Parts: sequence; C-alpha cells; structure tokens
Amino acid sequence: METSIRLAEAKLRAYKQEHVLKMLKDLPKPAQQKLIKQIDRIDFERLFKALDEHNQSKKPDIASVTPIPYEDWDCYEEQEKHAFTEIGWELLRKGKIGAIVVAGGQGSRLGHEGPKGTLDICLPSGKSLFQLQAERLLNLSGSAGRLIPWYIMTSPDNHDATVSFFQKHQYFGYSALDCFFFQQNTLPALDLEGKLLLTADGAIKEVPSGHGECFASLKRSGAIADMKQRGLSWLFYYNVDNALIKVADPAFIGVAASHNHPIATKVIEKSDAGEKIGIVCLNHGRPAVLEYNEIPDHINEARTNDGRLFYSLGHISIHLFKLAFIEEYADADVPLHIASKKLDYLGNKVMRDVPNAYKLERFIFDFFPYADQLTVLRASREDEFAPVKNKAGDDSPHSARQLVLAQHMRWLHAAGIRLDMLKQREIEISPLLSYSGEGLNIEVLNNPSSNI
Ligand code: UTP
Repeated sequence: METSIRLAEAKLRAYKQEHVLKMLKDLPKPAQQKLIKQIDRIDFERLFKALDEHNQSKKPDIASVTPIPYEDWDCYEEQEKHAFTEIGWELLRKGKIGAIVVAGGQGSRLGHEGPKGTLDICLPSGKSLFQLQAERLLNLSGSAGRLIPWYIMTSPDNHDATVSFFQKHQYFGYSALDCFFFQQNTLPALDLEGKLLLTADGAIKEVPSGHGECFASLKRSGAIADMKQRGLSWLFYYNVDNALIKVADPAFIGVAASHNHPIATKVIEKSDAGEKIGIVCLNHGRPAVLEYNEIPDHINEARTNDGRLFYSLGHISIHLFKLAFIEEYADADVPLHIASKKLDYLGNKVMRDVPNAYKLERFIFDFFPYADQLTVLRASREDEFAPVKNKAGDDSPHSARQLVLAQHMRWLHAAGIRLDMLKQREIEISPLLSYSGEGLNIEVLNNPSSNI
C-alpha cells in the first residue's frame, strides 16, 4: 500500500496534478485505495501527450487528400441490385451478421432526459428510437429465419437506464438473450488549464471517450468472444440517433461482402459545403474521414466543372466491419481528439454556452486507415439519414419525424396509392410491416395496425 501511494504520488507530481494528491491524502482509506487503483489504471502519458498536441494546435496531417472510388446504389442495374441484396439475405440467413448500436454518447446538444435511444420523436405511434431499430431488426430476422444478434454500447452514465428501458418494454419483442449490453470505456476529463477533474466522492472524473472506444470495449466486455461463438463474420455499425437507419440493410451487406474489403461505409452526397458532416476520402492513399471542422476551405469548397462538390461523399456513421478486422485492431492506438465541452464538475457549474472542460475522444473512422481498401456505397439521403442532434431546427426530433413520415408517403405512393388519397394524412408504417417500402398496398390506409 505504501509503495502504491508513493507511485501514485510520483505520477501525479510528474504530470502537475498536485490537487489530486491533496485530495488523495485527505480521503478515508477505502476511497484512497480506490483512487490509487484509478491513478494506476489511467495512461497519463497518452492523455497529456494528446493535450500537449492540442495546446500546440497540432493539426491532423491532411497533406495528401484525394477522392476515394465509390459505388452508387442508384447507378446499379435492377439485376445487380437484386443480386447484391440476395447475397446480403444469404448472409443473414446463415447468421453471419450482427448489429451494433453506439449509444454511449452524452447527447449534450439534445438535452433529452435519459439515454438518446429512449427518445420519442413524436411519430403517431410514439415509438422510441430504440423501438424503431428493434422492429427493423425483427422484420429482417423474421424473413431470415433467425434473430440478428444486437450489441448495444452504453456508457457508465446511461447503462442502467438503457437496460431498464429495454426491460420495461420487454425488449420490444426482441429476445433478451440476443441483446448484448456492454459499457464503453471512459477517460478523465480536464479543465481548461489541463487539471484532472474530480468527483464529490473522491475520484477522478471520467466521461465516455467517443465511439472509437467501441472495438476495445467490445473486446473487454466479452462481446467479441460472443460474436465468435455465434459464428458472425460482419458487424453492422450505426449511431443511435439516426431515425431512418436501415439496420442490417441486406443490400449494403451484399455490396460489402461482394467487394470483401475489411470495412464498408454508406455515404450520402453532401448537401453543400457548409453541411456539418465529415467527408470520406483517401489520405496518403489510405481510406480516411475528415471531420467537418478539420477540412480546409480549399478541399471543402472545391467543385467539379459541373458545379458539384469535388469532395462530396458525406460520412453518416453507417459501416460494416469484418469481425476479423475488429479483432485484429481492437487495441490499436487510434488518435485521441480533444473537444471543449460544457461539463458539470466539482467546484464548477456550467455557464450557459461556455465550454469549461476538455473531453478526450476516439473516433470510429480513425480505424479506416488500417484497412487497405474501403468499400464506399453512396445511397439516397432521403432514405438513410435523419439525425437527431439538436433540440430544435435542423437535425432535431422534429426534422427527423418529418423525414420518416415523408419516406412513408413515398413508399405508399410507389405502392400505387394516389397522392390525393394521402394528402392531409399522417401515415406511419410500422417497421414490422415493411422494412423499406415492400409489401404495401391500399389496404394499409384502412388497416389501423399500419398506423401504429
Ligand atoms: P455524437 O458525436 O453526435 O455525440 O455521437 P452525442 O453524445 O450523441 O451528442 P453531443 O455531441 O453530446 O450532443 C454520435 C454517436 O456516437 C455515440 C452516440 O451515442 C451517437 O450514437 N457515442 C458518442 C458513443 O457511443 N460514445 C461516445 O463516447 C460518444
């Protein structure tokens, strides 16, 4: 014990964290032991190296960015679409596909009480984001003849609330055995002077450290072992907050499996240079994503002769990863990004709209350069992307609701229902009835079950 206290002391002094040392000495024995263990576990060198780089305004190396080849779903012949989709179905039938939702974020912009996946975006049915996802998975599972295992990444902050929500709703008809909840890794947060934040009960405050923690957290939690035992080959990865997400989309799976690269990503055409989404590209010849706030103007605003954005492949966090790739790179030291955030912490109250702390995060797309090649599939924005990020305005529950209902109108119209019969009506199609517009007819208008 004396040795470990001395080691902790040395570590704290080396990184100028004497305020933690002061707290350590004042703590009762059990809390002291806990804190010593925490100090031992935290990789201070890695943490403060990231902070130094941030303070020196070190920019990511994007000296050699070029466009990446991609496929466009809309440019395939009908025959090709059918063939790809059938390959995807075959893998679903063979039980080779799992789905992972990253739901460990703090959702600070949205400000919803509770985990983001529990949000009801005010569709007529009142379904939560989690329920929409569960029902899409159930629809596919029904046709495939087996349940698609569902991995749900939470954080220590929202784990219990997430699991309780699933229990309260009987897993939305899913099997509890096929829902694998696991908590993501966390990292200490820092104040703007680079001092570790503390909690009232004598610990160093840690916060969820980005979706890029997903592979390491899958490994630590035993989820990778579970996937191997089930014989999975691919994992469909998505954000919890996309109301239009086509979870485990057979067509996308078919394209990914046919190209057989370690990763596939679905993209949409960026609406304009100012849109706050990253771009998928090559950097030094390797697959990469540039975050919107990292893209220099000359890249962001470059246009082709016909006036379209030169770098137009918008990243929307829909990926397929080969399980072998996840296993190989689970411990890769992907970069730590630093973001200024508003955090509540001991001795400090959040001032409205003023960031008061640094949060360290890893991003999932920082694994892209580890893949020699990336399959990029461009798909239609209106069918794929309804993000819920903000309380109101763009990318809000309201805009996502409108996008879902507009999609269901298009489906009904494509099923032969006249527009004048749809006017002034809000019709929501249950994902249990239709996954992507198939199997609809006029009966839907009279059948109340399709409205729930
Ligand atoms: P965002 O980057 O939009 O973050 O997450 P957020 O936490 O939802 O919202 P803000 O930025 O605080 O307003 C994109 C996806 O990554 C997940 C989120 O849950 C969301 O599905 N995520 C983010 C994690 O799972 N863990 C994290 O540490 C961060």
